[in-house]
Amino acid sequence: MNIQHTTKGLRGEITVPGDKSISHRAVMLGSLANGTTVINHFLNGADCLSTIDCFRKMGVSIRMEQHDKDHRVIVTGTGLHGLNVPDCILDAGNSGTTVRLLSGILAGQRFSSRLTGDASIQRRPMKRIMQPLRQMGANIVSVHDTGCAPLQICPSRLRGISYHTPVASAQVKSSILFAGMYADAKTSVTEPSASRNHSELMLRQFGADVEINGQTASITPEPSLQAQHIHVPGDISSAAYFLAAGLIVPGSELTVKNVGINPTRTGILDVIQMMGGQLSVETKESEQLEPTADITVKSSSLHACTIHGPLIPRLIDEIPMIAVLACFASGTTIIRDAAELKVKESNRIDSIVTNLQAMGADIQPTDDGMIIRGGRPLHGAVIDSQMDHRIAMSFAVCALAAEGVTTIHDDACVRISYPDFFDTLHLLNR
Ligand code: S3P
Repeated sequence: MNIQHTTKGLRGEITVPGDKSISHRAVMLGSLANGTTVINHFLNGADCLSTIDCFRKMGVSIRMEQHDKDHRVIVTGTGLHGLNVPDCILDAGNSGTTVRLLSGILAGQRFSSRLTGDASIQRRPMKRIMQPLRQMGANIVSVHDTGCAPLQICPSRLRGISYHTPVASAQVKSSILFAGMYADAKTSVTEPSASRNHSELMLRQFGADVEINGQTASITPEPSLQAQHIHVPGDISSAAYFLAAGLIVPGSELTVKNVGINPTRTGILDVIQMMGGQLSVETKESEQLEPTADITVKSSSLHACTIHGPLIPRLIDEIPMIAVLACFASGTTIIRDAAELKVKESNRIDSIVTNLQAMGADIQPTDDGMIIRGGRPLHGAVIDSQMDHRIAMSFAVCALAAEGVTTIHDDACVRISYPDFFDTLHLLNR
C-alpha cells in the first residue's frame, strides 16, 4: 500500500469496529453460558474469527449475521461443562488472547486438546500462563518444550489458588480466572498494576461471582452463566489511529463515535492531553457495563511527555501510535517500563524504532521502551510491518504527515483487528 503526504485536513465523523478484547470474551462466555447470547457490533477481525472457529470445533453453534457494515454474532451456549472434544488441533491464528484465555478454559475440561497458532504465536511466551495453571493442577505442556505454542492440555482436577502475577497482563489474569470457574475453591489473581478488566466485568454480567478488591480479582467456582445481550463498544485501540491522524494532519477535526472508554483502556486519552492535544470526550448514557463516548480531536501543536508506570498497561497497544505522535511533538518523549512490547505480535520496540528511523526520526531504543526527540521532519520510506497489524496502521497514519510517499509492506495484516482500516482512511483523505 502506498500512502501520500496530505495537506488537506481530515474532517467528519466515523465509527470504528467493535472492541477486540470484548468480542473475544463475549464468544467465550457466550459459549459457556446457558441460553442464546447475542453480540452486536462484533469485531469481524481475523483474531476474533479464530476464537469463533475454536469454539465451533468444540461443538458450539455460532451464527454470524451482517447488517450493513455491522456484524452480529449469535452463540448457542452449551453450559459450563457442555463443550465437546475437538477432533483436530485448535488454531488461534495470530491471536494471543485466544491462546491464553482459551488455555484457561481448556485446563478445566474433561477432554484433551491441542492449541496452536501462526508463526508469531509460536514465538510468544506461554510460560506466563502455564506456570499458574500448573499451580492450579493443570496438565499443560509446550509440545516442543519451547515455552510457546503448540500447547497440549490434558484433563486434571483444578485447585483454587491465590496468584501474584509478575506482569500486569489481562491475558494472564483472564486465563487464571477462566480456569478458576472449574477449580475446587475460590481463585484470586493479584497484579502489580491494573490491566484491562473486561473479563471481570463480563463474568459478572453473565452471573459469575467475581470480587474485585484493589489489584486483586477473585472468582467463585462453578458459576451458572446465563446468556446475555451484549453491545460491543468501538475499540479505543482502533480509534487511536484516527485520533492521532486528526492531531497531526493540519486542518483536521474528527469525531470517533461510540468508543469504549473503560478507564483501564484510556491511557491514550491521558497521553493526548499530556501532549497538549485538543480533545473532547462526550460520555454516552448506556445500560451496558462498559462506558462509551464520542471523542473529538482537532489538529494540535503537541509537546513531549514521559510515559511510564501504571499508565503503560492502560495504553500498551497504542504505543506504536504514540511513538509516531512523539515525532510530531516538540521536546523529548520518554517511554519506559514497557518491556512487554518485545513480546507482542512483533518485537515492537524494534519494529517501531527501525521504521521510524527509516522515515528520518530521531529515536533510540532502550531496554524497556524508547526515547524520541520530536520535531524533525519525517519523509516517506518503505515500512516493514513485520506482519504486525498495529505497526501497519500506525505507519499508515504517520505517512499522512510525512513528506513524499510511504510504502507499507504486508499491509493485509490489518485484517487482524481492523479489516476496513484502509477504506476508512481513504474515505477521510479523499
Ligand atoms: C489483551 C491484553 C493485552 C493486549 C492484547 C489484548 C486482552 O495483552 O496487549 O492486545 O484482550 O486481554 P497482555 O495481557 O499480554 O498485556
